Amino acid sequence: MNLKDLSIKRKLMLITMLTSGLAVVLSSAGFLIYDLISFRQSLSQDLMTQAEIIGYNSAAAMAFKDESAATVTLSALQAKDDIVSAVLYTREGKIFTQYVHAKAARRDFPSPPQARGYRFEGSYLEVFRDVTLNGEPVGTLFLQSDMRQWNSRAKRYATIFLSFVLISGFFALIVSSKLQKLISGPILHLEDTMRMVSATKSYEVRATRFYGDEIGRLIDGFNTMLSEIQQRDTALHHANDELQTRTLELEGEIVHRKEMQKELLNAKHAAEDANRAKSAFLANMSHELRTPLNAIIGYSEMLEEETHELGKVESVKDLQKIQKAGKHLLSLINDVLDLSKIEAGRMGLHLETFEISPMIEEMVATLRPALSKNCNTVQVHLAEQLGVMRADITKVRQILFNLLSNACKFTDHGTISVDVNRSSDQGEEWIRFQVTDSGIGINAKQKANLFQEFTQADVSIARKYGGTGLGLAISYRYARLMKGRISVESEPGQGSVFTVHLPAKVTAEITGATPAEKASDVPAASPGMKSNLDTILVIDDDSTVRDLMSRFLTKLGFHVVAAASGEEGLRLAKQVNPLVVTLDVIMPDCDGWAVLNKLKADPELAEIPVIMVTVVDNESMGFELGASSYMIKPVDRDRLAILIEKHRLTRSSAVMDAQAFAASRRDASPKKDGGRVKRTATRNDRKTAAPIK
Ligand SMILES: Nc1ncnc2c1ncn2[C@@H]1O[C@H](COP(=O)(O)OP(=O)(O)OP(=O)(O)O)[C@@H](O)[C@H]1O
Ligand SMILES: [Mg+2]
Repeated sequence: MNLKDLSIKRKLMLITMLTSGLAVVLSSAGFLIYDLISFRQSLSQDLMTQAEIIGYNSAAAMAFKDESAATVTLSALQAKDDIVSAVLYTREGKIFTQYVHAKAARRDFPSPPQARGYRFEGSYLEVFRDVTLNGEPVGTLFLQSDMRQWNSRAKRYATIFLSFVLISGFFALIVSSKLQKLISGPILHLEDTMRMVSATKSYEVRATRFYGDEIGRLIDGFNTMLSEIQQRDTALHHANDELQTRTLELEGEIVHRKEMQKELLNAKHAAEDANRAKSAFLANMSHELRTPLNAIIGYSEMLEEETHELGKVESVKDLQKIQKAGKHLLSLINDVLDLSKIEAGRMGLHLETFEISPMIEEMVATLRPALSKNCNTVQVHLAEQLGVMRADITKVRQILFNLLSNACKFTDHGTISVDVNRSSDQGEEWIRFQVTDSGIGINAKQKANLFQEFTQADVSIARKYGGTGLGLAISYRYARLMKGRISVESEPGQGSVFTVHLPAKVTAEITGATPAEKASDVPAASPGMKSNLDTILVIDDDSTVRDLMSRFLTKLGFHVVAAASGEEGLRLAKQVNPLVVTLDVIMPDCDGWAVLNKLKADPELAEIPVIMVTVVDNESMGFELGASSYMIKPVDRDRLAILIEKHRLTRSSAVMDAQAFAASRRDASPKKDGGRVKRTATRNDRKTAAPIK
C-alpha cells in the first residue's frame, strides 16, 4: 500500500513513531559508540599498565636469563581471564618465555621486534613493550587480550539498547496514538461532516470547531461555505418552487386558453354561420323588397309624368315624394346588399383605365345641386396632368360620392373642396382624393367607430341629418378592396378632411367587366338582317314589370310585345324579330339564363340584343351568356331609353339619325323639362348612372 494513501491517523502515528524512534536510536547509538570507544581506550591503558608491571617484574629475570623466574612472573597473568597470551623476547628477538591462558586456543606468537605500544588485531588487543633494567633494554614483552570485557559490555549494551528502543517505541506508540487525535480528530470530524452533507444534501449541519489552530480556521471556513451554499440552496429551492408554481399556472393558463380558443373558434364558426345566414337573408329580403319597389318607383314615375301632363302640380309633388322615398329605400337595400357581398367576399372589382379629371368634373357637376343645397361653396382643385388610373370606376365614384354627400349633409353655409393629386411612394403611383368641408366636424370618440357599418356619430345627428351610417363603411371597404385607404382629420366645429389614397394602378383579379364597358359593346347587327325596328319584346313573369315597361316604351314610340314566360318569349322572338329583348332572370319553368342561351344558340335570333332587366345581381354571368347590357330593377328608364336607342341606331339602316331620334323621343316624352334624363344623386346610381359611351 502506498504510504501516501494511508489514513491521516496512521500517517501521524507513523511520523511520530519514526521521529521518536530515530531520535532514540541515534542518541542511544551515539552514547553506545562513545562508551565502547572509551572502554576500548581504558582497556588498552589497562593492558599497557599490565605490560609495564609484568615488564618491570620480569626485567631482572631477563637480565639474568632466569627463565623460570620469568615464567613465574608471566604465570601471575592467570588471574586475568581476558589475557590470552604473553611472551617475553630476548634482545635478539627470540622467545625467552611465554604464557598462554588455559582456555585460549592460540599458540602462534608474533615475531619481534614490532612497534611499541598497543594495537587492535582482529578481535584482539595486543601490546609490545620494552623490558628495561636500570634504563637498559633487556628484552621485549608481548601481551595479548581477547577483549572479553569489551565484547560482553557491547553485548550487554546492545541488549539494553534494544529493550530501551522497544519499550520507548511502545510508549511512543501509546502516546502518539493519544496525541494524534489532536490533529486527526478535527480533520476526521470535518470529513464526516462533509460526507453527511453530500449524502443527505442537507446544508444545515455544521462542523464543530475544536481548537483555534489552522484546522479550527479550516472548519470555520468550511462552515461559512456551508452557510453560503445553504443560503443559495434555499434561494434555489425558493426559485424552483416559484418556477413550479408558475409552470402550473402557465399550464392552467394554456388549458384555459385552449378552452377559450375552442370556444372562440366555435363562436367564430357560429358567427360565420350566422353571417352567412344573415347574408342569405339580406340577399333574399333585398330581392323580395326590390320587386314591390320596382312597382312603386315605376308607377310613381309614370304617374308623375301623366299628372304633370294634366297640370296637377300638387299631385306631382306628392308623387315625387313617393319616388324619393322609394329611391331612398332602394339605396338602403343596395347598401345592405353591397355590405353583405363584401363581407361574404363576393364583391369583385371591374377594373378599367379612365381619365381622372373628367370623372371628377362629371361627378361634381352631377352633385352640384346637392352640394350647394345648404348654401355651400364648392371648389375643385385638380392637379395638372392627373392622367389616367386603372381601378373600378364605379367604386371610386361611389367612395367620392359618399364623402361628398356627407360633406354637403354636415356643412351649412360653408365651403366644400375637392382636391385630387398624384404622387409616387416607393416606386408606386398613388392618387390622393381629398374632400374637405367646414362643417360640424367629428370628435375623437366618434372618429374611433367612423368606418363601422350602421355607425353614426350620435343619436342626435342621426335624428337631425338622417342616414343609416353605411356610407363610410362601404367607402372604407371599397378602398380596401382596391388596396387603398381612407383617413380622416377633424375637430368638432372645425370641419373635416377625408383623404382617400388609391393606387394609380389597382392590381386585383378582374372578375368581370363593368356594365358600362359591356353596355358600350353593342353587337353590330348584320346590315341585311330583317328586323322589326319598332318592336321591343319584354319577357318577364311579373305583370307589373310588363305593364310598366310596356307603358314606358310605348310612350317612347315603340311597339311592345310582352311575354309572361321564357317559352312564350322564345316563340314571340321568332315571330316578331324585335329590335331588342328585355329579359328577366327569375321566372318559373324556364329562367332568364336558359332563354338567353336559347336565343344566342338560334342563328335567326342570335343577333337580337338582349338587355337583362332583373333583381339578380350577377352581371358577369349575363355577359358571359351573351347579354348586351345588364340592368338591375327598378330599372333606370333614362338609361334603358339610351341603350335601346343605341341598339336601334346600330341596327337601323339609318331611317333617323340620333339627334332626330332624341328630339322625337323628347317630343314623345310627357315631361318637357328633361326630367327623365335628370339623374337623382343617390347611391343606387352606381348601378344605373354609369356613363354610356
Ligand atoms: N363630413 C362630415 N362631417 C361631420 N360628420 C361626418 C362627416 N362625414 C361623416 N360624418 C359622421 O360619420 C357618420 C357616418 O357617416 P356615414 O356616411 O357612414 O353615414 P351617414 O351619412 O350617417 O348615413 P348614410 O351615408 O348611410 O346615408 C355620420 O353619421 C356623421 O356623424
Ligand atoms: Mg353618408
